[in-house]
Amino acid sequence: MTSKIRKFNYLFLITLFLVSFLKTNAQNGAALYQQNCAQCHGADLKGGNATSLIDGIWQFGAEDGYLFRNIKFGIAHLGMPSYEKVLEDTEIREIMKYIRESEKKVGAEKPPIAKMLETLDYDVNVEIFAEGLEVPWAIDFIDATTALITERPGRLRVVTNGKLQTEPVKNIPKVLNEGQGGLLDVAIDPDYYENGWIYLAYSHVLEHIIEGKRPPAMTRLERGKIKNNTWTDSEIIFEAPHETYRTTRHHYGCRIVFDPAGYLYFTIGDRGTSEHAQDFTRPNGKVHRINKDGSIPETNPFIDEEAAIKSIFSLGNRNIQGMAIHPKTGQLWVTEHGPMGGDELNLIKAGKNYGWPVITYGLNYNGTVITDLTHKPGLEQPILYWKPSTAVCGLDYYSGDLFKKWKNKLLVGALKYEEVRLLDIENNRVMHQEIIVKGQGRVRDVSTGPNGAIYVVLNKPGTVLRLTPKTD
Ligand code: HEC
Repeated sequence: MTSKIRKFNYLFLITLFLVSFLKTNAQNGAALYQQNCAQCHGADLKGGNATSLIDGIWQFGAEDGYLFRNIKFGIAHLGMPSYEKVLEDTEIREIMKYIRESEKKVGAEKPPIAKMLETLDYDVNVEIFAEGLEVPWAIDFIDATTALITERPGRLRVVTNGKLQTEPVKNIPKVLNEGQGGLLDVAIDPDYYENGWIYLAYSHVLEHIIEGKRPPAMTRLERGKIKNNTWTDSEIIFEAPHETYRTTRHHYGCRIVFDPAGYLYFTIGDRGTSEHAQDFTRPNGKVHRINKDGSIPETNPFIDEEAAIKSIFSLGNRNIQGMAIHPKTGQLWVTEHGPMGGDELNLIKAGKNYGWPVITYGLNYNGTVITDLTHKPGLEQPILYWKPSTAVCGLDYYSGDLFKKWKNKLLVGALKYEEVRLLDIENNRVMHQEIIVKGQGRVRDVSTGPNGAIYVVLNKPGTVLRLTPKTD
């Protein structure tokens, strides 16, 4: 009898110990997660700059062993940092436990998309313009009735009269769909009616290179025409020297815009090697400027530098995924993914150096310091930086007539913060910021449509929203 009670007591104590141990374990895991992982995988683990950790999809192995290895050693070529020097093995296990528990809890899913949003100036109607897309990346408009949407895995989709066509455009270029790479931006030529050109940016891989090694890749630009739903007349208008291609799979940029003089600007991210952003013999970590046919403008800033890549327009840009031309001044504005706490809004000027990685307001994503410097002579300051980082993505000056009070204000999308901000800029200073869309999904692109509606591309679920002012 007594021994039974004793046994019971032991069991009870062990259970109590286990329960409390596991509990603090998970709490600690949650705190460690927020500190180290949330900025990329999202505060709610649903993703942001990196993949969701609770959607049941484990690209790099679902078992604990794989999770542990991926966290401890990182996935360098995709931008998943190594935590070997930052976290103890026990701490990694605590985070894993927290991930596993959160994975179980989902089920109670996201609320449906709001039908109406309130802003200072307008009540805004929200409609679903297109849905069921797979990682939509960019939208542009051929005319008032036809929109093109890129899906990162490598499809170009057409929306005609508000209806998403089931058949993607045939024969578009083959893209490397891995990590952050794939089919990226689409842009319609400003003189589309005369020439029919459409521009695509995508990750291009050199398949023939070195067996046993991951083949190197870089951002490439191509233009073509769409006839009978088929990509034709294609011309490659930018391809970096093959020796500069990188085996990493992140930080490709890339947005495309045209200025009033007809120049084409595009971006390439640092491809994970930050020092390259300072090196004009490398295409990565830069803004580039070319003519629409791919030739190099004679007025480009590094045209006389023998070793330079002649398309380079500015240096020191980490990973720009938002670009817009001011409708009145023709200035080039960009949003740039910084490291942790260092997302930037920049006004890009010819030949200038925007400082990455010599100066930054951010930290490495694993919390370690990149540099103590935020200023240095000869290096440009951002117009604005966001701390914490919102994961800025997608940018447009509102140029329509529907939201009259928003004319020429800047729309700034963000992945991690799931938002669109409206920035009021005067004399190159941000006077006011208002969040006009929040919590509807991760924003990949934002664009004024030909009819003055605002289109918001949500990464996941793959949906495009159409915003119009409520009139009564
Ligand atoms: C700098 C951004 C960044 C941070 C910080 C970060 N990760 Fe990642 N992580 C990534 C990227 C990028 C990938 C690759 C998948 C993708 O493209 O999103 C990844 C992949 C993973 C994977 C593999 C996912 C799969 O599908 O198999 C796990 C697990 C993971 N991360 C856990 C963590 C944990 C835990 C932390 C914090 C200790 C963390 N990550 C911090 C960027 C990050």
